[in-house]
Amino acid sequence: MRIAGGTAPSTTAERLSVVVLVSAFASLSLLLPVATSRRSQLDALVAARVIPDVIDAFSPAAEVSARYGRRDVVDGCDIKPSESASRPAVWIRGRGCSGDNLYTLIMTDPDAPSPSNPSEREWLHWIVVDIPGECNAAKGKELVPYMGPEPPIGIHRYVFVVFKQNKTLGEVRPPLGRGHFKTRGFAAQNGLGLPVAALYFNATKEPAIRIY
Ligand SMILES: *[C@@H]1O[C@H](CO)[C@@H](O)[C@H](O)[C@H]1NC(C)=O
Ligand SMILES: *[C@@H]1O[C@H](CO)[C@@H](O)[C@H](O)[C@H]1NC(C)=O
Repeated sequence: MRIAGGTAPSTTAERLSVVVLVSAFASLSLLLPVATSRRSQLDALVAARVIPDVIDAFSPAAEVSARYGRRDVVDGCDIKPSESASRPAVWIRGRGCSGDNLYTLIMTDPDAPSPSNPSEREWLHWIVVDIPGECNAAKGKELVPYMGPEPPIGIHRYVFVVFKQNKTLGEVRPPLGRGHFKTRGFAAQNGLGLPVAALYFNATKEPAIRIY
């Protein structure tokens, strides 16, 4: 297709191709905010090394949002352990986020016990499976109960990873412990493939409250 050069399209076919191209650009610009937010979602995960420390690069096909009380989780934000002691509200929105689709949510800490020596990577905080089409994690089945962040040393990353299931996982046996968990291994064992969305925040140990 000849578009460069700036000469006015002469034949009907050329005029038609310009129209098609312009409308393609128009619809592209409508899609752009979504594409950009998905791209920046990946960039933030790469910058913080969530990719590759926890998951491989993936193509975002959903959005996950999490909220502790009134605090929305944003990539890289700092949330106090005392604010995140109870399970957050989590929503998964995405293409096909309706009907019979089921999703798995995993929350994990790759920095245990300390970011400079993560010998227990990953520490498992939460698994919810069979989150149904309306995509509210509260409607899923809690396979591993929620445990809030308790970072002993350093800044820890807490990562929410969402997978789309291709079968129900309600009968899957939960991992035996929380330490040395591997998100990739769990995904491989359960046929989850690559993630469809991910989000992370940071938390640091709070100074002990002194009582005088
Ligand atoms: C959160 O941790 C990541 C990875 O260590 C870092 O890139 C980011 O700057 C941290 N955010 C804050 C607010 O400290
Ligand atoms: C689910 O997907 C995984 C990986 O994409 C595949 O290995 C597995 O066979 C699939 N299972 C079913 C029941 O389709």
